[in-house]
Amino acid sequence: MAPITSFIRWAGGKSWLIPFVQDLTADLKYNNYFEPFMGGASIFFALDIKNKSFLSDINEDLINAFTGVRDNVESVIDCLKNCSTDSDSYYRIRALEPTDPVERAARFLYLNATSFNGLYRVNKLGKYNVPYGQRSVSFNYDRLTDASKKLSNADLSCHDFDSIRALLSPEDLVFLDPPYAVTKGDNGFLGYNPRFFSLEDQYRLGELIDYINSIGAYYILTNAAHEKIEEIFSSRGRMVSLERNSLIGGKKAYRGKIKEYIFTNIPERSTNNGTD
Ligand SMILES: C[S@@+](CC[C@H](N)C(=O)[O-])C[C@H]1O[C@@H](n2cnc3c(N)ncnc32)[C@H](O)[C@@H]1O
Repeated sequence: MAPITSFIRWAGGKSWLIPFVQDLTADLKYNNYFEPFMGGASIFFALDIKNKSFLSDINEDLINAFTGVRDNVESVIDCLKNCSTDSDSYYRIRALEPTDPVERAARFLYLNATSFNGLYRVNKLGKYNVPYGQRSVSFNYDRLTDASKKLSNADLSCHDFDSIRALLSPEDLVFLDPPYAVTKGDNGFLGYNPRFFSLEDQYRLGELIDYINSIGAYYILTNAAHEKIEEIFSSRGRMVSLERNSLIGGKKAYRGKIKEYIFTNIPERSTNNGTD
């Protein structure tokens, strides 16, 4: 199936990395594809994957929305068609707590499209609390239908990244895109709280990469350009340093250069792309 773009906005989305990953994997024969920090799954949607995909994330709302799009896209679209995108409607729908999985999926997509910057943020009680985005929205139903087809060969599950270990086989490909553990002063965007992915988690990720290396599978890791990250991962694969332009910080946005590190055990090709 032709490459498509993700149907959600997601902090830390990797659409800017697509040319790099496509180039890196162009000659690679791999079996199953794994994306255990799925988010908007922009790399999954961009790759031409021949075998099965295993997509997972710790965010249960996100997994439910992807499952709804995969299994019940027409019902999800019907729900969205009944939703106005003005401010009053936004706050009314934000206050709802549907239990039906299709309605939950539609609400997730609605809030993602109409909220401020498409952020996903919940309060201590688990209630979504992002304000209205003040933007005109039209839902792209064709893209949802295309995504549903592409997802039909994907296993979706909600769990910690390390759970993929039990499913991995030699020559599988794993794309790893964890939240950034460093604070905004050091690098990175503002959307993540370091508490959510600790240094301890980065070490656990290093151990998963050791396992991937030991069974002869492939991985691509993207991570913050930080000396601690280099220290943990540089012995586990070759490191590529990329710089890209980034729009940071919503309304008071400014353009800045962001450096990120990529680590991989896939051999270098002669024509690696730069990215933006
Ligand atoms: C940088 S985002 C991934 C973005 C994605 N590559 C894209 O293009 O949209 C990181 C994701 O990791 C998830 N996450 C955080 N901690 C996790 C954990 N311990 N296990 C699995 N997923 C986790 C977050 O919910 C978030 O969706």
